[in-house]
Amino acid sequence: MTIGFYHIEPATCLAPMAGHTNRAFRELCRELGGLGLVCTELVSSQALEYSRQRAMSFFDFDPSEAPMAVQLFGGDPQTMAEAARLVVDLGAPMVDINMGCWVPKVVKKGGGAALLGDVCQATAVVEAVCKAVEVPVTVKVRSGLTAASETAVPFARAAEECGVQAIAVHARSAEQGFSGRPDWGVITRVRQAVNIPVFGNGDLTTLEEALQMQRETGCHGWMVGRAALGAPWIFAQWAGLLPGGIPPLPWRAAVALRHLQLTERFSSLNEFKAVRELRGQLSRYDLGVREQLVRLENYAQARELLKRLSGGVELTDLREHWRPPHLPAPESGATERPQSPVPP
Ligand SMILES: Cc1cc2nc3c(=O)[nH]c(=O)nc-3n(C[C@H](O)[C@H](O)[C@H](O)COP(=O)(O)O)c2cc1C
Repeated sequence: MTIGFYHIEPATCLAPMAGHTNRAFRELCRELGGLGLVCTELVSSQALEYSRQRAMSFFDFDPSEAPMAVQLFGGDPQTMAEAARLVVDLGAPMVDINMGCWVPKVVKKGGGAALLGDVCQATAVVEAVCKAVEVPVTVKVRSGLTAASETAVPFARAAEECGVQAIAVHARSAEQGFSGRPDWGVITRVRQAVNIPVFGNGDLTTLEEALQMQRETGCHGWMVGRAALGAPWIFAQWAGLLPGGIPPLPWRAAVALRHLQLTERFSSLNEFKAVRELRGQLSRYDLGVREQLVRLENYAQARELLKRLSGGVELTDLREHWRPPHLPAPESGATERPQSPVPP
């Protein structure tokens, strides 16, 4: 897949997830392999306008992460254009426009999913951003405000005309939130309506499901969110770089330890706040130590706990020694996740 001047290989994107897909997690997924594109969590264009200094503290991206997109939200074309110019000046390789977030603080300001209800305004925002910057602009949408008022297709056509270079479709309406099943039909309709790359998004957990989505909708690539939380190796598994299945406890702990190291290196938060955020992120690795995780207060405590659980396993040995799925002996305290098939 090509987005502007970037070759996206493989055509798999880590979905933006506020509170999770910070630089540390993006770097971790990239290190493990099999991931073509990453995106920051959403940043308010208004916040950038009113308090640049403070808003800058939200940023933890680095131009070396390319191909990557910085995601902006907002409903005012000029403010969005200004914000896009600013992030590109800071080195953003791509700009993504959020048109799917339905949380009140985003929608009340006319951004995120609110734009799905007003294709004209959404188009004005996209047009202003595309005119403001020379880097590729992408958008992330849901099917519409409600299932009955699908706007993704007319909006996708308009966005392509404005110069948008790729579109990700979360196959649910804003009203649905995360409930119900995604309707892949909207991905098919968007795919048929435009000539730019389309990422299919919503509930993908295995390579099998992803391939089925691709067969049924014709999407060019996949965007994966929640299935990667506590399982940043999922992209490497789908790309055939690691065996499928749930890695044994020491490996999961070794990956969690790397997550911690990258957080120490890259977090824009102070240690207290970063560790509070990490507690939730680390609990996703099913390490069987939830009570100890909630009591973590600093990096040193987290390091000691994860080192003990990893038993000295080195992440560099990962590809050679990760046991294939038919071998692992289940560890006590660890819960099982569905297995990803090993690609041929
Ligand atoms: C905790 C969380 C935070 C999210 N934050 C964002 C965000 O900042 N921007 C965005 O466009 N979507 C956001 N999303 C939506 C995801 O990008 C994705 O569209 C959604 O989770 C569906 O994909 P999945 O089923 O693979 O998780 C978020 C989702 C979750 C669970």
